[in-house]
Amino acid sequence: MVRTPWVGGNWKCNGTVGSITDLCGEFGKTGFDPKSIDVVIFPPALHASLAREKLPSKFHVGLQNCSKTHNGAFTGEISVEMIKDFGLRWVLAGHSERRQYYGETDEVVAEKVDIILQEKDLSVVLCVGEHLKDREANKTNDVVDAQLEACLPKISDWDRVVIAYEPVWAIGTGKVATPAQAQEVHEHIRAFLKAKVNEDVANKVRIVYGGSVNAANSTELILQPDLDGFLVGGASLKKDFLEIIASGL
Ligand code: G3H
Repeated sequence: MVRTPWVGGNWKCNGTVGSITDLCGEFGKTGFDPKSIDVVIFPPALHASLAREKLPSKFHVGLQNCSKTHNGAFTGEISVEMIKDFGLRWVLAGHSERRQYYGETDEVVAEKVDIILQEKDLSVVLCVGEHLKDREANKTNDVVDAQLEACLPKISDWDRVVIAYEPVWAIGTGKVATPAQAQEVHEHIRAFLKAKVNEDVANKVRIVYGGSVNAANSTELILQPDLDGFLVGGASLKKDFLEIIASGL
């Protein structure tokens, strides 16, 4: 099955009005065809408007997080209704930094996946991945399975789901997973989905890799048959990101 490549740039909590304006200017020089690849930038929420204004329209803009509640008296939150109303289409859920630093359990992540997918125009990037201690204990698949399993009852439209496999030990460390390590987990995720959902979903869902992806390693990683693109952190804050997009084409 041919799956459209997907590349996301997660800017995390970085950037100023000036740096984002400059970076978007650099990104405007790229020549990718948006019919051949989905490219999504996830700026800090405060900078979403600026990014939308400065980026070419072929870049999608998404948010790194959303509220698990609808509109109402929830100070500091951003609801899915607001995200949709603003014209954004993509939201990350379950990023390891949300799990690790903000107490987002598998259950909270599932609630967010649920509320995102309740909005028909929104798509979710569900992030999963093991810590180093899990890998060393041969528990990578168990951890990923549990993270996915919690969300399965909330997902009926798989066309609006991208799964990001991001081993925590590879995030921001410069220790990228080898192509074989990434492929092994991506292949396992497809087998898990085949068993728990169905073969069609297992074949069509896009599974992207994240964790120290850069312009030098992306070309080899993308050759793996079950790897459909990347969720990029640090390198998405540089013009190298354009080379990573090109590797996905
Ligand atoms: O969301 C992106 C991932 O956390 C990867 O970040 O590319 O800086 O390792 P990184």
